[in-house]
Amino acid sequence: MTLAFIGGTGLTRIEGLEIRTHHDIKTRFGDPCAPVVEGELNGATVLFLARHGDPHRQLPHQVNYRANMVALEEAGASAIVAVNAVGGIPAAAGDLVVPEQIIDYTWGRDSTLFDDPAEPLVHVDFSWPFDVDLRQRLKSVLSRTELPWRFGGCYAATQGPRLETAAEILRLERDGNDIVGMTGMPEAVLARELEIPYAMLSLVVNPAAGKADREITMAEIEAVLHLGMDGVRRVLAELAAGW
Ligand code: HPA
Repeated sequence: MTLAFIGGTGLTRIEGLEIRTHHDIKTRFGDPCAPVVEGELNGATVLFLARHGDPHRQLPHQVNYRANMVALEEAGASAIVAVNAVGGIPAAAGDLVVPEQIIDYTWGRDSTLFDDPAEPLVHVDFSWPFDVDLRQRLKSVLSRTELPWRFGGCYAATQGPRLETAAEILRLERDGNDIVGMTGMPEAVLARELEIPYAMLSLVVNPAAGKADREITMAEIEAVLHLGMDGVRRVLAELAAGW
């Protein structure tokens, strides 16, 4: 069982990871955004992939999610924790969230591995998009920290790269979403197609559009990211220790 992490904005490397090797994998869907790093973290072998490349290059709608996920599978990932930065709808800046559900508002992304017309049609079950056991493991680590966290809720995957309008956020709220980000889909469904247990650890870096009486600035997002990713790194290290 090799644990893998996908790092998003603010997490292009894992401090404390003793790197052993880089897997330079070419997939049938092209090149992943970065080599898959293999190393040791707290006694466990873990894999790490920088979702947007290292340094950060691809925008959320440009990420080759299929190549990223197939590269992780080929490197031996048997469980994936995906870290992402999100806006909070009710969730507050600084919260760490382990969502239970997802709604996909993205468009035009390559969202299946099964698009070869010569192969039989496959419709994967995606009723419960995240792995129950992995979510419980995250919960148990989070409950041993003093970090602010929430277990459950719904992640809205939007197209980006722009942030939403206040009206769009009201609509997402009416739909039952708690957090909003740009990278959860198709990443989560590709993990399901590969049959790799997958869960998200989302860091709320700003109140979503219209939820605070001010403009959302990159400076504000970066300040929360900087502090919050320290907590994320601690959670990942603890997760690896118990793996
Ligand atoms: N919306 C969408 N994606 C995001 C946000 C947001 O407010 N903040 C960080 N990623």
